[in-house]
Parts: sequence; C-alpha cells; structure tokens
Amino acid sequence: MSKLSKAKVQTAEPADGFSKSGFILSAIGSSVGLGNMWRFPYLTSGNGGAAFFLLFIICLLVIGLPLLLAELSIGRGGRGNAASSFQNLSGKKAWGLFGLISVFGSVIIMSFYGVVTGWTLYYTVRSFSGFLSRQTAYAETFRAFTGSGYGPVFWQLAAMALTCWVVARGISGGIEKFNKVLIPGLVVALLVLLVNGLTLSGAKEGIEYFLKPDFSKLTPESALLALGHAFFSLSLGMGTMVTYGAYVNKRQSLKTASFAVVGGDLLYALIAGLIIFPTSFTYGLQSEGGPGLVFIVLPAAFHAMPFGSVLGGLFFILLAIAALTSAVSMLEVPVAYAIEKWRWSRTKAAVLTTAVCVCLGIPAALSAEGPWKGYVWLGRTFFDWLDYSASNILLPFGGLLVTLFAGYVWKHAAEEAELRPLWGRIWRFVLRYLAPVVIVLIFLYSAGILKL
Ligand code: TRP
Repeated sequence: MSKLSKAKVQTAEPADGFSKSGFILSAIGSSVGLGNMWRFPYLTSGNGGAAFFLLFIICLLVIGLPLLLAELSIGRGGRGNAASSFQNLSGKKAWGLFGLISVFGSVIIMSFYGVVTGWTLYYTVRSFSGFLSRQTAYAETFRAFTGSGYGPVFWQLAAMALTCWVVARGISGGIEKFNKVLIPGLVVALLVLLVNGLTLSGAKEGIEYFLKPDFSKLTPESALLALGHAFFSLSLGMGTMVTYGAYVNKRQSLKTASFAVVGGDLLYALIAGLIIFPTSFTYGLQSEGGPGLVFIVLPAAFHAMPFGSVLGGLFFILLAIAALTSAVSMLEVPVAYAIEKWRWSRTKAAVLTTAVCVCLGIPAALSAEGPWKGYVWLGRTFFDWLDYSASNILLPFGGLLVTLFAGYVWKHAAEEAELRPLWGRIWRFVLRYLAPVVIVLIFLYSAGILKL
C-alpha cells in the first residue's frame, strides 16, 4: 500500500454507499436472519429456556456490541474490503491475508445458507397454494422435499439468483433498496404473528418457559453456545460488518448504528421466541428442535390454527425475507473483494461468486436430509461440515482477528468509533483482554481440546 493511497484512506467517501437510514436497516437486515428464527429457538429450548436467553443477552451486550463497533470502524477507517481494510490500516500485507480467511468463510456460510434460504422460499410458495390446510404429515413432506434432490437444488438456485440480482445492482440501488422495502414488511408480519401467538391458549406456559429463568438448567456449555450464537446472530467474524462499514459516510454515528443493530437483533429474538414458544406449547410440540422446529412443527401448528394458511404463509414470507436480507450481506463480502482485487465489474463479480457458492451448495443441498445423506465423513455430512467448520472454526478465528487488530494493532480505532476517553478505555479493555480470552476458550472448547 503506497503512501498516497494510505492518505486517501482517511478522507475518501465511497463512490456508492449507504444513506443513513439505509445503512441501519441493511445492517439490521444482515443480523436478523435464520439465526434468530431457526437457530435461536432450538438452542434456547435445548439449553434451559429463559436462563439461556439471559446469557445470550449478556454476550450480545458485553462481547457482541464492542466487536460490532470494531468491525464497522475497521471498514469505515480502512475503506476496503474484508481483507484490504486491515491492510490499509496497518500497512501490512499479512493482515490482509488474515482478512482473506473471512472472505473464504463467507463463501462457505453462503453456500449452505443459500440452501436453507431456498427451503424458506419453497415453503412460502407452498403455504400460499393451500398446503397448510390440506396436509398433515409435515415430517414426511419435509423429507420428501429435501430428499427429492432436484427440489432443494432448484430452490437453492432460485434463492441465490435473487441474492445475486440484488447484489449486482450495487449498494444504494440494490442492497439498500431491498432492505428498505423488506425490513418494514418484516416488522408488520412479525407483529401480526406476535398478537396471534399471545392469544393462543398455551401462551402463558410458553412465555413462562421462555422468560422465567431457571438457572439450575444452565451448564458451562450453554455459556459457550450463547456466545457463539451472539456472533452468528450479529453477523460477526466473517467480514460482513467490515464490508458494510466501508460503505458508510463519516457523518453516520457508528455507535448509534451498533446500538440499533444489537437492539433490533435482540428485539427480533424476543419476538421470535414469543411467537414460537406459545405456538409449540399450545399444540404440544415443545419437544422438537433443530430444522424440524420451523419446517415440520410450525406447519403442523398452523394447520390446526384458525386462519392457519394465511398466518403460516405470513410466517414463511417473514423467514424468507429475514434469510434473504442476510444472504445479500454475506454475498457482498466476496463480491467487494473480487471487484477491488481483480477489477471485475460488479455484475461479473456477483455472477461468478454466486456460481461458486451454488457449486459448493449443491452437494450441501443434496446431503442435508437429501439423497447424499448417507455420505458421511467423520460423522458429518457435507452440509454439516460446511456449517460446522464455518460456525465453529472460521467464525471465532475471524472474531479473534478483529479484537486483536482493533485492540493492539490499529491505534486510531477509538477515534474512528468516536468514543469519549472513558468509553474508549473500556472498549479497548474488552477488545484487548476480555473478548480474546473468551473467544479462545470457545475455540478450544469447540475444537474438543477443552472439555467442560
Ligand atoms: N446473522 C445472520 C443470521 O442470524 C447470518 C449471517 C449473516 C452471518 N452474515 C453472517 C453469520 C456472517 C455469520 C457470519 O441469520
């Protein structure tokens, strides 16, 4: 990096960037996704309900919030992609190479996230064509769909094509516009389902389970899962927020944006819980978890509910929107990288990176409950391997990189984040000591080196 371009780094505004509200909506759109609606309820019910939720809130505020502010600051200060921003700020190539890991990680997450996003599109279309009122054998339906092979691949292609189209249109004309239309739609759908959830007969039981903590159910493992989920849910550790940060102008307050994203993500998780737990308690389905919760249990509940077809359709649209607004943020990471690195046009970068994600995603689509389910290597299918390696290895590693970089290497982090001296010191403490130690603990734990 020459001196000239380093000087440019400090003043340049991006040629195509977010507006103030567009940025906040898009960052919320990125964080709110399948993580809140599919992963969170499953983790919560598997780890003692309300006590786990409380731990998740603590992790979100104590580690997630400072890390989010760090990622956004690195992006805006470095004005590059998920790799070059680090290089621009440190003047060292090695940091750029480390950042490259998150570009790869995003491609990996995108490839299986695209598969599940495809499932949500399929369920949306099926719900509106009367599937929720006609059928009852939802577990068989789910397996027949994912097992057909061509079905999930077709819908994965549809999801990726849509994501590619939005990203190819750029930041202000694509990603921002898409989020500005869909996020308010998401809020409306969410509120309708919330009111419905609270009026169900099992609402009281469901809410109690979700909000009344019983700490005896917590294990040390739950703390680690809660932290890992705080990362996943805020889209941290994979360069997403660094990439988005590069499109933000200097007039925007990154602090306000970080609080808005954490608040939005938390509120969404709360409301998702207030929809899902009353529903599963009312219909006696509280024992299910994992992918089944959303694609098997909820259709069964909607089937039994008055206006179930409409409410179910609304639920799956909501899920599809949440997934798509996260998917565009993930695809933008390799796209921004390719544009800068190889000087590709945005369209070319979007199409080619989508093609890579689709190719990696096809075996994932076929192996998640599909015809390739039997191909297991070291206890995991291809789908599970992508999820496992990205969430448990690349994500903590990317997060660690960010804390160390903002804590030790980049001296002007607190200025870019516009923190007052006292808050700057607290922030630095978290980035230097607290966050790295906690992340290393999770890492050792998920690698099986540390046993609890
Ligand atoms: N946060 C999103 C969700 O909750 C998923 C996501 C988007 C993500 N970008 C990411 C997860 C980067 C990890 C890393 O569904």
